[in-house]
Amino acid sequence: MAEPSVSRRAVMMGAGAMAAWAASPARALLAQATEQSRALPAAVEALLGQMSVEEKAGQLTLMAAAWSGGAATALNPAGARSSFDGQLAEVRAGRLTGVFNGNGATMAKRMQSVAMRESRLRIPLLFAADVIHGFRTVFPVPMAEAASFDPDLARRTARAAGAEAAAAGIDWTFAPMVDITRDARWGRSVEGAGEDVLLGRLIAAARVKGFQGEHGLAAPDAVAACAKHFAAYGAVEAGLDYNTVDVSERTLREIYFPPFQSAFDAGAPTVMASFNEISGVPSTANPWLLTDVLRREWGFGGLVVSDYTGDEELIAHGFAVDAREATKLSFMAGVDMSMQSGFYIRHLPGLVAAGEVPVARLNEAVRRVLALKVQLGLFDDPFRRIDPRREKTQVRTARTLALAREAGARSIVMLKNDGGLLPLPRSGKRIALIGPFASGRHDLIGTWNVYGTDAEAVDLETGVRAMVKDASLVSVVEGAGLDGPVAGGIEAAVAAARAADVVVLAVGEHARMSGEAQSRSAIVVPPAQMALAEAVAATGKPMVVLLRNGRALALEGAVLGASAILVTWFLGSQDGPAIADVLFGAVGPSARLPVSFPHATGQEPYHYDHKSTGRPNPPGAPQEYKTHYREFANKALFPFGHGLTYGAIDYADLDLGDAQLTASGAMTVRATIANSGTRAAEEVVQLYVRDLAASVTRPVRELKSFRRVRLAPGERQTVSFTLRRPDLLFIGRELKPTVEPGRFRLWIAPSAEAEGVSGEFSLG
Ligand code: NOJ
Repeated sequence: MAEPSVSRRAVMMGAGAMAAWAASPARALLAQATEQSRALPAAVEALLGQMSVEEKAGQLTLMAAAWSGGAATALNPAGARSSFDGQLAEVRAGRLTGVFNGNGATMAKRMQSVAMRESRLRIPLLFAADVIHGFRTVFPVPMAEAASFDPDLARRTARAAGAEAAAAGIDWTFAPMVDITRDARWGRSVEGAGEDVLLGRLIAAARVKGFQGEHGLAAPDAVAACAKHFAAYGAVEAGLDYNTVDVSERTLREIYFPPFQSAFDAGAPTVMASFNEISGVPSTANPWLLTDVLRREWGFGGLVVSDYTGDEELIAHGFAVDAREATKLSFMAGVDMSMQSGFYIRHLPGLVAAGEVPVARLNEAVRRVLALKVQLGLFDDPFRRIDPRREKTQVRTARTLALAREAGARSIVMLKNDGGLLPLPRSGKRIALIGPFASGRHDLIGTWNVYGTDAEAVDLETGVRAMVKDASLVSVVEGAGLDGPVAGGIEAAVAAARAADVVVLAVGEHARMSGEAQSRSAIVVPPAQMALAEAVAATGKPMVVLLRNGRALALEGAVLGASAILVTWFLGSQDGPAIADVLFGAVGPSARLPVSFPHATGQEPYHYDHKSTGRPNPPGAPQEYKTHYREFANKALFPFGHGLTYGAIDYADLDLGDAQLTASGAMTVRATIANSGTRAAEEVVQLYVRDLAASVTRPVRELKSFRRVRLAPGERQTVSFTLRRPDLLFIGRELKPTVEPGRFRLWIAPSAEAEGVSGEFSLG
């Protein structure tokens, strides 16, 4: 049915709905969309004019690819899925905008050919995918990479991943995930950049820029980014995935929103609504979030996509009575495209015909989809990213694999190194490599990779054997399974430890213990592996623990007591070589924790930038009626920002100048950072501030800047930072960014809970 008649009928049949629409805040969007549409080629407007309502709803319908079993269901619940032939029929009928997590250029070519030859209007399909931390070359899981405190590294790996994905026919990635995560029980914390807003903002922007490249979205090696999950998904109660979120608007604006704003500033043209509700309203049907804030306040002109069956889930939330109402609530709140439920293609035409959804809103959403397809260059050449030859030759190149190794080594955090046990010498020592992660191509790439495989990654044993001069000095014993004991495992491990000079114990979480739907009620090393650690530690041999983990862990017992601990996460294609680089000192450890490691699970959600309370416990032992746990202080075991190097770094000589920051000025602060050790180091120098009294209570510390500094043995450098008024903004009583004169404390320090050097200054 052509548009004008539908539009007339809609007006006649649904005058009430139309009046409500006219008065609604969402109406302002139309003005904005019209504004943007002027920039769209006239052909797109003409196309819109030719589309039936059903074809329009088709442009708003995205499904998991069904080709060859489809990769999507491996990481999502099996949905109502049709066969590949069924999907081709939908394409022919103009009822599908594209597919996601499909299987490469051959599939894409087949589907795109049907769209271009056999569909009435020949609108190109869009191919999307979860390219979260690499494509065929797998990079460290996002939390690990954030530990590098190196946004440019995140940009470079996202660029490489984007280029590989584009070579396989993908136009659009559902990444970056920019949720701030403050509760380590939540398994999806692995997908983000950790607990801090500044780090989260910088990494979000870097990843968007990386995916999209520098030559515009139409470049054949660019993929469009999608900031997700909007919003506050990381704030789920009790760290339980999909759970309720009840959070103040101030915290939304101060903590959870900023990384999205950074992603949009960096050019992300799409955003995904989150599964959770916020204070009673699911994000997927939240007009305040998706329209008032996102569009009217921030002026976002791009596309909003639901998460996988997010609109359908409104029924289980108890927010919509049925599919039809769920469609209406979600669409009118601002979700332009529906992922996987099929609700939009099934119900939008009827809702428009009944006048319950204005055709203007329909057009607005379709324009956004067409605009994205235009931007991606698909109307110029629908096959620009679909080239089975490029798909084979432009993946897993020597360059991307070297980048994976570099990124891996730069993501490893050294928590402890008592007695300078690390780095290990490359010769002359017998090494017992023990634990379920010591050997084998499993649990290397992490939880969230659709296209890479463990089978193509390099394991720890291979990395270690390639690094040592005499591989016969390395013995390898599994010792325990991932989740349970293995027969004779502990005995064999103890014997190997006794026969060795040093034990390297690789323990922790397997890949499926973090990621979507993998919440944990105890964030510990699994019991069977702890039993192994205790038995091996009892041999008294020097022990290095290599932790495998997709979240912050509460370390205890023999693992915590080991002389050295490296956090090795899931590092991807070059996992083993990257760990060996750091273990043997070819690369010095330089990463920092992007999430605080607590003493115990019961502390979660723990984040370094917590408030003081009215009864803070003074430094030292817990005092009666002060804020602490019975068992330990309200501090991290290893705080955000912590990480050691192979140097010995000292902080001294804080210089605050006149310690005055005028309202319009800038203040430069300096400290001397010295390496008194015998090895070179790359130190992440961090600047924290505390607003000592404000009209809204402020965190005990907030990260304001950081810098990587390379120091040769014996070298000292003056490191300077410049603070400006906007650095001290917070969300005030009126829920607007504000800054108040007063006293501030400042630290230049090696972590969020280290003293480093500190002093006070005033803002005039
Ligand atoms: C559900 C996840 O929440 C989302 O992050 C992902 O992009 C979709 N599934 C599609 O796989």
